[in-house]
Amino acid sequence: MAYDNVLWEVTGGVATLAVNRPKQLNALDQKTLEEIRAAIEPLKTTGSVSALVVTGAGDKAFVAGADIAAMSRLGPAEAREFAAMAHRILSMLESLPIVTITAVNGFALGGGCELAMACDLIYASEKARFGQPEVNLGLIPGFGGTQRLARRVGLMRAKEMILSGEPIDAATAKAIGLALDVLPADKLLEHARAKARVIASRGPAAVATAKRVIQQGADLPLQGGLDLERTSFAGLFGSPETKEGMSAFLEKRPAQFPGR
Ligand code: CAA
Repeated sequence: MAYDNVLWEVTGGVATLAVNRPKQLNALDQKTLEEIRAAIEPLKTTGSVSALVVTGAGDKAFVAGADIAAMSRLGPAEAREFAAMAHRILSMLESLPIVTITAVNGFALGGGCELAMACDLIYASEKARFGQPEVNLGLIPGFGGTQRLARRVGLMRAKEMILSGEPIDAATAKAIGLALDVLPADKLLEHARAKARVIASRGPAAVATAKRVIQQGADLPLQGGLDLERTSFAGLFGSPETKEGMSAFLEKRPAQFPGR
């Protein structure tokens, strides 16, 4: 697939999507969001891609936010539609049935931080800077930041970042749970892809189910989450994947999961 603002590559079942508007530090305008949607929509159904890595092209920015020049021309109704579009696409990304991993290679500000948080795992290069600087523009986060940041790092840290607009460095992002690990810039993408390959080698239905249960359970009271786990655990029994996984263990051989 060829896009103007997105680079797309698939190697060994792992797709890499790189936002590619280097002159705008990979800022997200409507066209770029639409290209991200077009690239990831096929991943909603089972196919040859078993994991997705999201990064930014170039060595300076992951994504420096929503495109401020484009946003400056919007009225309230258009801004609502712009945010709704981003919400739809980031929710789609968040609920893909495969693991999604962000490799934050530079500035992840505003919509960039929000894009990163729609993925399952976040790894950061030493050069990464995370922030929700919208208050500097007289705005608030509009691509999910007020909700996903608080769920990732807690209400008080989220308030500190969103109300001050101040960015944090990669080590701080790791310390507050916004990034899992910090890597040298030249090791970041391979680290993310290596983790993607590990997860992509596991039972696909198990990975998809575990991801869904963790995510949906986070918004439920504990008993509701445990109900969801029990039903989903039981639902896997008898499937070819589960039979193969347990048989392979008992027969002391590597599992050959259907669909892998
Ligand atoms: N939108 C549009 N263009 C952007 C941009 C953005 N978010 N971020 C950077 N650019 C452009 C700059 O305008 C500049 O373009 P020109 O060369 O044509 O002037 C180019 O990228 C390089 O940027 P700088 O010269 O500013 O680079 P720098 O190294 O001095 O600073 C930076 C880097 C600190 C990231 C700075 O560019 C910056 O603060 N960018 C804006 C970050 C921001 O406010 N993001 C939030 C946007 S609002 C949002 O995302 C709302 C939401 O929740 C959806």
